[in-house]
Amino acid sequence: MARRVERCSAEPADLSEAGIGEGVSEVIVTTRSASGEPNAAPVGVISESNRYFARLYEGSRTLSNVRETSKLAANVTSDAVLFVKSALGNLDEAEFSLFFSSSDSDYGFPVLSEASSWIIFETVFTESSLFQLTPVAVKISRKEVKAVNRGFNAVVEATILATRFGRAKDEGEKEETKKKMRFFAEIVEKCGGRREKEALSVLREKIKNYPSRL
Ligand SMILES: Cc1cc2nc3c(=O)[nH]c(=O)nc-3n(C[C@H](O)[C@H](O)[C@H](O)COP(=O)(O)O)c2cc1C
Repeated sequence: MARRVERCSAEPADLSEAGIGEGVSEVIVTTRSASGEPNAAPVGVISESNRYFARLYEGSRTLSNVRETSKLAANVTSDAVLFVKSALGNLDEAEFSLFFSSSDSDYGFPVLSEASSWIIFETVFTESSLFQLTPVAVKISRKEVKAVNRGFNAVVEATILATRFGRAKDEGEKEETKKKMRFFAEIVEKCGGRREKEALSVLREKIKNYPSRL
């Protein structure tokens, strides 16, 4: 992993400035295990009246890391490829850099080098898979001015479906999921830019063992 030391503002700014608005913000959450192994996965950060939450489902590396360290970083990015790769595997070590705070262990905390912004949160379990998040550090690297790209949104939707495919309860649900994925793939092909189309290829490659082609 890049041992680049990240710097940030000591006091967390208003999180809307860092890209976390009201409702659910889809970000890439980075975590580390107790032994320092970094991990990344897309997660929705829920914002309600300036309080922040994440719902972390059983079975993910993210959940086990949060249980071990009580911390996660929300990385704001519009890179479609990072969403697909982190949802259906892990990112390359080179994609991470480390943030060291004064209270940190030797490991530092992994964030994404290319994130437009990141926020490190302390996590407290509340009930039924819900964690309350308290921001402890924030870094804004880029303020992006970007129009909505339906191709990007479609990659996100197709990726969510891909992560749920394995949990479909019967053939009917699997078929329905594939139909929806094909619908979103068509939008990516029509509206996506280079990075969204690359994300779709990565997605197709990752799910090629699924029963039929997307
Ligand atoms: C856009 C998007 C949003 C997601 N939001 C969540 C979420 O809020 N909570 C969650 O537990 N999983 C969520 N997932 C699914 C996880 O990213 C997925 O299960 C992933 O494989 C977990 O990886 P890990 O085992 O490395 O943590 C989301 C997936 C996508 C594509």
